[in-house]
Amino acid sequence: MLEGQNVYLRPMEREDMKVYQQMINSAYISDRVVGWSFPVSEAEQNKWFDAVAGDQRNRRFSICKKGSQEAIGMISLSAIDLHNRKATVGLKLSDNCKKGIGIGTDALRIMMKYAIDVVNLHRLEASWLEDNKASEKLYLKCGWKIEGTREAAIFRNGTYVNLVEAGFVP
Ligand SMILES: CC(C)(COP(=O)(O)OP(=O)(O)OC[C@H]1O[C@@H](n2cnc3c(N)ncnc32)[C@H](O)[C@@H]1OP(=O)(O)O)[C@@H](O)C(=O)NCCC(=O)NCCS
Repeated sequence: MLEGQNVYLRPMEREDMKVYQQMINSAYISDRVVGWSFPVSEAEQNKWFDAVAGDQRNRRFSICKKGSQEAIGMISLSAIDLHNRKATVGLKLSDNCKKGIGIGTDALRIMMKYAIDVVNLHRLEASWLEDNKASEKLYLKCGWKIEGTREAAIFRNGTYVNLVEAGFVP
């Protein structure tokens, strides 16, 4: 269990798939995350869990409030590259989770500490859609640096938007 101030991270479980399905199908989240997906059924969601559980290069953690087992979001450490000691971080909070009260910051800080002090990575990467100001503030507040912009890299809601690339090196 990876503990922060008000939340903790634990490996995702099959029981979390209802929340994960809600997150992948959420219009609010889909408008903000870099990835894209067709709407996902319960059966597809469970199949996804079976396919990715145990993947050592892409680890997904559920974000939970202290004192609760319920997933309120997910944070991932993916494309783990043990030769160059780097990985990519991504996170999202469920629609039911209140935003803007520090949960994202808490979760990201736990993951950064874990990735660097435990996994022994020395560089983390992330990207976000240019208009995702919550992500920008979150990562910059946690010490990340913007390294560049990929122009018109992502198609979203009828238009191509810029992708911001950021990195963290302790
Ligand atoms: C991005 C996300 C994880 C941030 O989580 P959160 O718990 O709301 O973030 P925090 O409360 O820790 O806030 C972090 C900073 O961002 C700011 N912030 C939060 N929401 C904001 C918004 N909508 N617009 C501008 N700034 C915002 C906060 O004020 C805080 O900065 P401050 O401490 O200087 O005031 C969350 O909004 C989310 O899950 N969004 C939908 C999915 C998503 O965008 N995922 C990231 C894809 S790259």
